[in-house]
Amino acid sequence: MRFPDEFLADLRYRNRIEEIVGGYVNLKRTGSTYKGLCPFHGEKTPSFTVYPSTNSYYCFGCGSGGDVITFIRNAENLDYTEAVKLLADRAGMSMPETGYDDSAEKLRRTVYAINRETARFYAEYLKNDPQKIGYKYFKERKLTDKTIVRFGLGYAPDSWTALCNHLHKKGFKDEEMVIANVAVRGRNGKVYDRFRKKYMFPIIDLRGNVIAFGGRKHAEDEGGKYLNTNDTPVYKKSKTLFGMNFAKSSKSERFILCEGYMDAIALHQAGFDFAVATCGTAFTEEQANLLSRYCKEVIITMDADEAGQKASDRAARILQNTGLKLRILQIDGGKDPDEYIKAYGADRFKLLLDGAKNELDFKLLRAKNKFDLNIDAERLEYLNEAVEILSSIDDELGVEVYVGRVAEECKINKNTILERVKNKAKSKRRYSNAKAFKDIVRTNRKVDEINPEEQSNKRAAAAERSILSVLMHDGYLLDKVKNDLSEDDFVTPFHRRVFKAISNVLEKTSEFDITLLSGDFSPSEMGRIVQISTASFVYKNAEEQLLDCISVLKEEKNKVKVVDTDNLNNDDFASLIDKIGKNKK
Ligand code: UTP
Ligand code: MN
Repeated sequence: MRFPDEFLADLRYRNRIEEIVGGYVNLKRTGSTYKGLCPFHGEKTPSFTVYPSTNSYYCFGCGSGGDVITFIRNAENLDYTEAVKLLADRAGMSMPETGYDDSAEKLRRTVYAINRETARFYAEYLKNDPQKIGYKYFKERKLTDKTIVRFGLGYAPDSWTALCNHLHKKGFKDEEMVIANVAVRGRNGKVYDRFRKKYMFPIIDLRGNVIAFGGRKHAEDEGGKYLNTNDTPVYKKSKTLFGMNFAKSSKSERFILCEGYMDAIALHQAGFDFAVATCGTAFTEEQANLLSRYCKEVIITMDADEAGQKASDRAARILQNTGLKLRILQIDGGKDPDEYIKAYGADRFKLLLDGAKNELDFKLLRAKNKFDLNIDAERLEYLNEAVEILSSIDDELGVEVYVGRVAEECKINKNTILERVKNKAKSKRRYSNAKAFKDIVRTNRKVDEINPEEQSNKRAAAAERSILSVLMHDGYLLDKVKNDLSEDDFVTPFHRRVFKAISNVLEKTSEFDITLLSGDFSPSEMGRIVQISTASFVYKNAEEQLLDCISVLKEEKNKVKVVDTDNLNNDDFASLIDKIGKNKK
């Protein structure tokens, strides 16, 4: 997978990294770099940095980093070629004619085409079915014709082959239909329709492609209420929100997050064009990051049952880390938004929405509702729960206000409660410090998947990183390095690979260009490369640093490690003996 260097250089030049990243992240200039909140993990204070001078970005929080192509790969979930294509399109450049592997891209295009054709087939069936089964269902659920068309709703007939036959006629192959997950291969090797006798909800991405389906069963049928598309080359459940294709253009700065497809649709129909739903999974960090690109506040509406409470606690925890404002909407009477709007209308739902509680109010209310405050013992239990809840607030004034309220409710002296809250908060902080320390120890012990040999060769690896970093900044020193060092002198394999790649680039151009690496390294490897380029550049004099590191590396290379000889294969064993022999001389 290689594009001509001139093409990549031009691509990079016309897609300035700060501009591209700026389309996803609110960047603030600080000197020669830009900072913002990382789009790849939840955070409240910016540790995501863009370096225009080296055309790279790096997040000190999660370690993701790379060039502009890597960024697009990560942000849009694309493979290398597709990301290059997207950037070329954006800049109005045409792609080089040949010489690159576009099979993954072709497959994805086929899957998109199958999904589009499948959605069309189900929608047509909904319209033309003489019994009007699907149409009647959606009508019963109070959807208008306009909504049915807008969301592309459909019906999958009670047949094992209707869709497969149709797709065959359109020229799609069995295997492709199975990969798109609209068909399943049976034991006899034949494929059959995956969705049968189902009310169909297509799931559409931000660019308007149909990427998956939710299929609802008939009320009288057995089994799970919804059958959903599994992950495919074009669909990741954990990254998708149903309704986002419409909500992304909403003027509203607050979005509603609900549980069900029908909830999101009913809300849109009632004029709340900023409703989205998870697609049959627990809420994820990736979904939170997606939301944070389009709104400032999220109102969670989950069912009032225990599962719904758990789900909303989880979503609240994740959303808080992204810096989004958060409120929680509790609908009384065990109704979901769809049922509520049907029963009481949109205006009343709007009132409910405006009165949605912030998380603290909500938690206190939930605790209070569990107890009868007229009974002393229960009042005490409520008090204990309230202290627990309040001890997690950071803001002192906030604590005062809430403690005052609880004191009144429980008819207990305010200062007594305040003291207990403060003590609890202190012990919590102690605990969380201890936990943070343990986390650090644990991450340090974690296996390094990119360069596993680094663990047992720390000194050599540090020297290698330094050398790589110098080369990335001062490419003219390559000849000097090559005089003293060959790629075999590198102890750790990943660094050796990076050295080779950097040398290749520098042999062609005098100025190092990270864009020329991204075809040969995965996004997480690219992150590591940028980390090396930013982190280990410490000396004032690059050449001195280089020479020091080269001698460290040579020393380390000649050291014989204590190795577990039981686990060596014959070749390794022979070379070990060989090395020991040399050392003795
Ligand atoms: P609910 O059980 O609350 O259903 O599941 P609902 O959305 O209110 O559906 P209706 O109104 O009865 O038609 C909430 C969401 O959880 C996922 C679906 O995304 C659903 O919309 N789910 C639920 C599944 O994926 N599979 C299931 O079996 C059930
Ligand atoms: Mn429902």
